Amino acid sequence: MLKDRYNRIHDYLRLSITDNCNFRCSYCMPDEKMSFLKQKLLMSPEEIFDISKIFVQLGVNKIRLTGGEPLVRKDFGEIISKLSLLPIKIGITTNGLLIDNYLEELKKADISSINISLDTLNDQKFKTITQRNHFAKVWENIQRCMQENIHVKLNMVVIKGVNDDEIIDFVNLTKDLPIHIRLIEFMPFDQNNWNKEKVLSNKIALQKISEQFSLFKLKDDKNDTDKKFGIFGHSGTISFISTLSDSFCSTCNRMRITADGKMKNCLFGKDELDLISAFRKGENIIPIIKKSIFLKHQKLGGQFDDYKNIQPHNLENRSMIKIGG
Ligand code: GTP
Ligand code: 5AD
Ligand code: SF4
Repeated sequence: MLKDRYNRIHDYLRLSITDNCNFRCSYCMPDEKMSFLKQKLLMSPEEIFDISKIFVQLGVNKIRLTGGEPLVRKDFGEIISKLSLLPIKIGITTNGLLIDNYLEELKKADISSINISLDTLNDQKFKTITQRNHFAKVWENIQRCMQENIHVKLNMVVIKGVNDDEIIDFVNLTKDLPIHIRLIEFMPFDQNNWNKEKVLSNKIALQKISEQFSLFKLKDDKNDTDKKFGIFGHSGTISFISTLSDSFCSTCNRMRITADGKMKNCLFGKDELDLISAFRKGENIIPIIKKSIFLKHQKLGGQFDDYKNIQPHNLENRSMIKIGG
């Protein structure tokens, strides 16, 4: 069991399997001309499986595949089919564009829920945010998932002046669709043009929604990042991920491995320990994993407290695309 200095048991691993993406969202990817890791530097499906197995021995029961965009990996099917042999819940966070290529594999691997990033329901705005003209395809894939009985959680990063005017439209989706909408506070990462004026706190979003809908609280699981609500008369549900205004670090159970094989103990942590090099040399990586957990800060990587005082240039962290969320 992996326990940190604050008695938090770590049983959820987020595995970034590539830093590449087929979209160009500026809140995630700093530079249009960014270079991505060469395929041979990425963990192979065998390495992903073997490393995951070690984490499972240490008590991990949930592994989420992230990116960049995880589905751009040509061997995604192989990765997921190998991981499905482990006694874990597998999660995927994707931008949704390539889901239709993998529906068979997802079914075979028993994936019953998928997290899809979608920040707007307007195809022009989608193009502005992602620099790609793929709203229709993403929306089609969201519907395909629902038809296949794969539960969809939509991740909407709310940015003031960009998409906060669409919160009610997103909530309206839950009227007839059995979908889950998550409103996420915009977080600061390397070169993502964050400033506190662009953050719409979840509290304000909740107030706005409550003026038009009749909400009731749903039960959250002990390590959930989001606070969930039902809406009377609606098929779907909503929730709020309030990292900045009301952080949930006290129940954190998450660890990360980046696409270049570094272990990161917190989304905002600057400590990174090289797992993949040790693994490739045939060394025992368990002491490295334990050390990373030991180094974990109590809250927000020890980098800030009140988000209103954050000076983004003082944060030492990667860009979101190179962390994986
Ligand atoms: P579920 O397993 O479905 O609850 O998903 P998840 O929230 O763990 O993962 P997802 O990749 O869908 O992330 C949704 C949002 O939560 C993103 O904005 C993530 O950056 C954020 N998030 C995920 N894990 C953490 C975390 O450990 N700490 C913080 N502060 N935010 C996180
Ligand atoms: N702030 C909050 N959430 C973000 N994501 C990407 N960048 C940010 C950010 N700056 C979300 C994406 C994706 C998840 C992994 O992280 O929408 O769903
Ligand atoms: Fe855990 Fe760090 Fe996220 Fe807090 S910010 S919940 S400590 S990963």
